[in-house]
Amino acid sequence: MNRNKCVGSSEDRIRVDYNNMLSSAVGEHGITPEELESMRPRLEAALRSANAKRDAMRWRDLYKTERENIFRILGAAEFIRYRAENFVVLGIGGSALGPIAVQQALAHLRHNDLGKAVTGSPRIFVEDNIDPERMAALLDVIDLDKTVFNVITKSGSTSETMAQFLIITRLLLDRFGEKDLREHLIVTTDKEKGNLVGIAKKYELHTFVVPDGVGGRFSELCPVGLLPAAVAGIDISAMLDGAELMDCLCSNEQVESNPALMLAGLEVLAMENHGANIGVLMPYADSLKYFSDWYAQLWAESLGKKKLENGKMLHFGQTPVKALGVTDQHSQVQLYTDGPFDKTITFIGVERFRKTVEIPHVFDDIPAVAFLSSHTLNELITAERIATEHAVTVSGHMNKTILLPEVNEFTIGQLLMLFELQTAFAGELLGIDAFDQPGVEEGKNATYALLGKPGYEEKLRELESRSAKSDGFII
Ligand code: PA5
Repeated sequence: MNRNKCVGSSEDRIRVDYNNMLSSAVGEHGITPEELESMRPRLEAALRSANAKRDAMRWRDLYKTERENIFRILGAAEFIRYRAENFVVLGIGGSALGPIAVQQALAHLRHNDLGKAVTGSPRIFVEDNIDPERMAALLDVIDLDKTVFNVITKSGSTSETMAQFLIITRLLLDRFGEKDLREHLIVTTDKEKGNLVGIAKKYELHTFVVPDGVGGRFSELCPVGLLPAAVAGIDISAMLDGAELMDCLCSNEQVESNPALMLAGLEVLAMENHGANIGVLMPYADSLKYFSDWYAQLWAESLGKKKLENGKMLHFGQTPVKALGVTDQHSQVQLYTDGPFDKTITFIGVERFRKTVEIPHVFDDIPAVAFLSSHTLNELITAERIATEHAVTVSGHMNKTILLPEVNEFTIGQLLMLFELQTAFAGELLGIDAFDQPGVEEGKNATYALLGKPGYEEKLRELESRSAKSDGFII
């Protein structure tokens, strides 16, 4: 996609409106023009340094590299759609949240209830927890004969996913034997590292690769997300097109015209200068409900870091909060208007919903109810979004709106890339590594030790010698 094309207006382009982040809209708690101007050199440097690392950020090129894979992904998806009544993803974190978000956004909102005769695709389950009751419940509702599993783990070593994998593989081997395992189990993992590579070879399992330089939370546009999406009948090629457009827009060296760079700069300014330790994401669309879960992991795991600087330990990050419009107007908005100035609120609005529902005339003699009649739910949800944005703004709280013309493959591809780039640019601005997650290791290693994994004996001794909890503080 050439630069002219990406800079030109497109009616399916998502827009970022950040008026209400500024002091001109929200007053003393907003970002001033001087602050924005003083941020400019940092933003330009962040863009340069992110571009210089482009080779290591392969997730940014997936819209190009995965096009070569698309026929294989679509072929596997066709096989699954034809053969299976159920498609079950086993994965966690970045290997699950993208598939969940995209299915919710782009498949029918009652996909699993509608049935294959209507949707043409199997019921889809993404199992991203190891609660034994959940695993048992899944097995209660699927028939193994009609189920294809997709185990997704880049490392091939994540305990939760491997435990699920062991449970399912045992069941499949007992039912179908070694020869037919491949009919029911697809692997998505690293090309050479991890425990799944050898297992996949041994049983000749269909295998998809998570490319190098693509970390879990940045992997939705590779087979991690593309295969489940294609199984749901989602146009994955259009998703890649959307990502391509957004990458192009976010390569713009003009800070004011680069949406991800501007979003990153605003959030970093809000954190550093205005005490905004919390970032709320509030889409006004059920289809985007789980986008907030995907975004929460992306933002939290990427930016929640510590760094020793001049002998002092610095801690970075902004706590993501998930909210849903209009539901959370009756739960959290009171806090967003009258509560402390410790947060930014990002609304996501949708201009055209894919369905229109009229509110009929029923009680025209009761004016307090009748005013709703002859409007649509579309008008009501839009009015409530605009009204909430107004209420939050007049209360002096920073907010912004990302506007999607419609929820479709092209706009979702844009949104994925927008947030990924915003996160990468924010990492550059803060001077931290947005792509690792060292803080997760301690808990992982302690789990390994408690369960007797070889090599973790020292960690077990450390756990056993931890000071006992005082009964005085347990009520
Ligand atoms: O973003 C990440 O890298 C992590 O959240 C991983 O996705 C998560 O830990 C699961 O890892 P894996 O895919 O190796 O099982």
